[in-house]
Amino acid sequence: MTALSGLARSVIRAPAGGRLSMRRLGVRYMATEKPSNVKAFKIYRWNPDTPTEEPRMQEYKLDLSQTGPMVLDALIKIKNEVDPTLTFRRSCREGICGSCAMNIDGQNTLACITHIPKDQPTKDMLIYPLPHMFVVKDLVPDMTYFYKQYESIKPWLQRKDVLDVNKEILQSPEDRKKLDGLYECILCACCSTACPSYWWNQDAYLGPSILLQAYRWMADSRDQHLPERLSQMENAFSVYRCHTIMNCTRTCPKHLNPGYAISQIKLLLAKN
Ligand code: SF4
Ligand code: SF4
Ligand code: FES
Repeated sequence: MTALSGLARSVIRAPAGGRLSMRRLGVRYMATEKPSNVKAFKIYRWNPDTPTEEPRMQEYKLDLSQTGPMVLDALIKIKNEVDPTLTFRRSCREGICGSCAMNIDGQNTLACITHIPKDQPTKDMLIYPLPHMFVVKDLVPDMTYFYKQYESIKPWLQRKDVLDVNKEILQSPEDRKKLDGLYECILCACCSTACPSYWWNQDAYLGPSILLQAYRWMADSRDQHLPERLSQMENAFSVYRCHTIMNCTRTCPKHLNPGYAISQIKLLLAKN
């Protein structure tokens, strides 16, 4: 069903006994009923307050013309306007903090920088927490052990000499460049939770995210603890559980290459 715009109605007068051709007059019709733009979001739900209830998928329908462009916009709209019990993490809204990492349509990624595909409005969107992690609630994974692993690699500058706090530790542009592709990691854990080796050996294998961070300090010319950092990796599990499947690199929402960083650690281990 269509209707003439108010402006068009007010200016068109048919001549007596005559018929106006709307097309010749250049009249535009405005649709009052647009094609359906409603998309279903099926979201993983689990509540620790009712632990005997099985996890389930809950469906929410949103009109995409009333929703922001990103998946995080949809989640915020659902939480604000439909169901305040839906729980997820988010903070920066610009792919910087890593909080909104989740599994969207089968891919680990950041909800805030993932567009809702507008070309397939009728295709349901499936949203789960990061895989193979304990769930705190709904889309919130338990990151406790992941952060313990991060702490274990001592992610800070370590020196053997006594530091003069009033003096900068200089670095050549070439040495600084070695940190590119490493320092940008936001510790979202998308890569580690996409890694089959990490799924099965999470207690012993550090996983691509933590290993990329470990290599970030090994590659830093200002750090003086490379031998100690490498000796931590000299066992069958910490790094050698990586079998170069490269799920990590494929899924990284920051387009980093943890698989390459792991190969560099293996190279350093072989050389030292
Ligand atoms: S390359 Fe290594 S770290 Fe990356 S997904 Fe494969 S096994 Fe995991
Ligand atoms: S390497 Fe990429 S996917 Fe892995 S934690 Fe860092 S930013 Fe996230
Ligand atoms: S909200 Fe910070 S990365 Fe998505």
